[in-house]
Amino acid sequence: MTRPPLWDGLLLDARLATLDGPGYGLVEDGALAWKDGRIAWVGPRGALPAGDGPLAAQVLQAGGRLVTPGLVDCHTHLVFGGNRAGEFEQRLAGASYEEIARAGGGIVSTVRATRAADPASLLAQSLPRARALVADGATTVEIKSGYGLDFDSERRMLQVARQVGASLGIEVRTTFLGAHALPPEYSGRADDYIAAVCEWLPRLHAEGLVDAVDAFCERIGFDAAQTRRVFEAARALGLPVKLHADQLSDGAGAALVAEFGGLSADHVEHTSPEGVAAMARAGTVAVLLPGAFHVLRETRLPPLDAFRARGVAMAVATDCNPGTSPLQSLRLAMSLACTHFRLTPEEALRGTTVHAARALGLHDRGRLAAGLRADFVLWNAKAPAELCYWLGGNLAASAWSGGRQLY
Ligand code: NIG
Ligand code: FE
Repeated sequence: MTRPPLWDGLLLDARLATLDGPGYGLVEDGALAWKDGRIAWVGPRGALPAGDGPLAAQVLQAGGRLVTPGLVDCHTHLVFGGNRAGEFEQRLAGASYEEIARAGGGIVSTVRATRAADPASLLAQSLPRARALVADGATTVEIKSGYGLDFDSERRMLQVARQVGASLGIEVRTTFLGAHALPPEYSGRADDYIAAVCEWLPRLHAEGLVDAVDAFCERIGFDAAQTRRVFEAARALGLPVKLHADQLSDGAGAALVAEFGGLSADHVEHTSPEGVAAMARAGTVAVLLPGAFHVLRETRLPPLDAFRARGVAMAVATDCNPGTSPLQSLRLAMSLACTHFRLTPEEALRGTTVHAARALGLHDRGRLAAGLRADFVLWNAKAPAELCYWLGGNLAASAWSGGRQLY
């Protein structure tokens, strides 16, 4: 009698970029096996265990192509109603992002469209964006609220975000971003609005809708004292925090989120040396969002050399949102990080795998190593740098999430 197969699946003849250890962690002529949703074995084919029975129920050939961990998009706002193509035209005609926001456009205009959308419509509008991310290699996607700005609409956004994950078979992590902008009904009463946000948070958390808490600490968002109140509410519930920090000006946001042991400070173009030092001490990840930098035609670069010198981990994400970054490809975000921020393709790939997982507090993915989730992508490419080099194109040939094939 032959014994049952050792593993559920086995991929052979793969060029593995494991991201485990230094560099890409390349394994030529590699093999990757999975069982019960986890990676069971990874290494050179020649080192596969010998035995009398079959190794796996399903054996696949990669044909020498590149295999990486499933990509992690650790910062998106992809659930929203409508779009802001009109603002894109206004900005090209000379208006600034801040001017449009102060004139009642910007985030608040998406709030109007999002509040007006029922759950089915919100899901239907959001799914194509999530599908595009998945088709380009993402297997884990973070989605923020922040276009509802009242209890019911924020709750609806978070529920739709969870539905996106269930519909596509990927893992969605939800972040409560009630402190994204001041809704019109609270005009002149920002502190009262923050009190409301702090009151909604435990209720949303009790429904299992919140994995992390974020805020927009900025001249056109909330100040440091208001952000601190939101973070204290998160801490009282044991929820991790992250922050839209120092995007348009230095509001000492990076230092503030680091003080709370935050998972990440995001954008960080204007972060000061003190902010970088605080992030290094706290182990807070810098999430680079080159899509917003590109669309807003920013010129101020994040302090990349300081991050490198201090050993601050750098992640890269799409920031997929209707205003500053209508970007639906994590590979394009990686490419923009290389061209605008001079990241190496290796830093960019680490930024959408290992470091992106860390920015979400996830330690079970982001590398190809035994025991981690079987999230991986087979690419129509040989060299890892191709992921950043090609702009567009159908590079992702197939992808697995938790050992289940997505496409
Ligand atoms: O990450 N900066 C604040 N939030 C978003 C933009 C949201 C919007 O304009 O709709 C961002 O860039
Ligand atoms: Fe954002």
